[in-house]
Amino acid sequence: MDKNFKTEKLEWSDELLLGYGPMDSVHQEFVECVANLAAANESELLERMRQLIVHVEHHFDEENLWMNQTNFPAKECHIDEHAAVLKSIMEVNAMVVQGDTSACLRLSKALMDWFPGHADYLDSALAHWICKQRLGGKPVVIRRSIPHAH
Ligand SMILES: [Fe+2]
Ligand SMILES: [Fe+2]
Repeated sequence: MDKNFKTEKLEWSDELLLGYGPMDSVHQEFVECVANLAAANESELLERMRQLIVHVEHHFDEENLWMNQTNFPAKECHIDEHAAVLKSIMEVNAMVVQGDTSACLRLSKALMDWFPGHADYLDSALAHWICKQRLGGKPVVIRRSIPHAH
């Protein structure tokens, strides 16, 4: 994936697949939740924010659990990033609950910008780690031949 990926729109595509099925389906749902928020009209924003929060809490809790269960190395920075993103979402939601929806569109765009990098850098490392563990340390991923640096 292009590391400089920036878009006004985030759509699900095979490029976002990381190869661990349970994570990929949650990620597809994340993309849908953010797209639904971006496309919401004023009267739908409160409900779309609620759906986003339900999704994100489940999504992040599940990945955090996988990291803890599998002793994923360097899990702290991934867990911290989840917490920071959830905090931003909750701040916007607190405004929406008060009737101020002015930050919703900015939030949906920020999440669209954030997600591909997070998935590519942090989630993909976790997906590979889980697949490797489940296969008893024998990854069957077909890799390009990369010379070993010694
Ligand atoms: Fe994720
Ligand atoms: Fe993550």
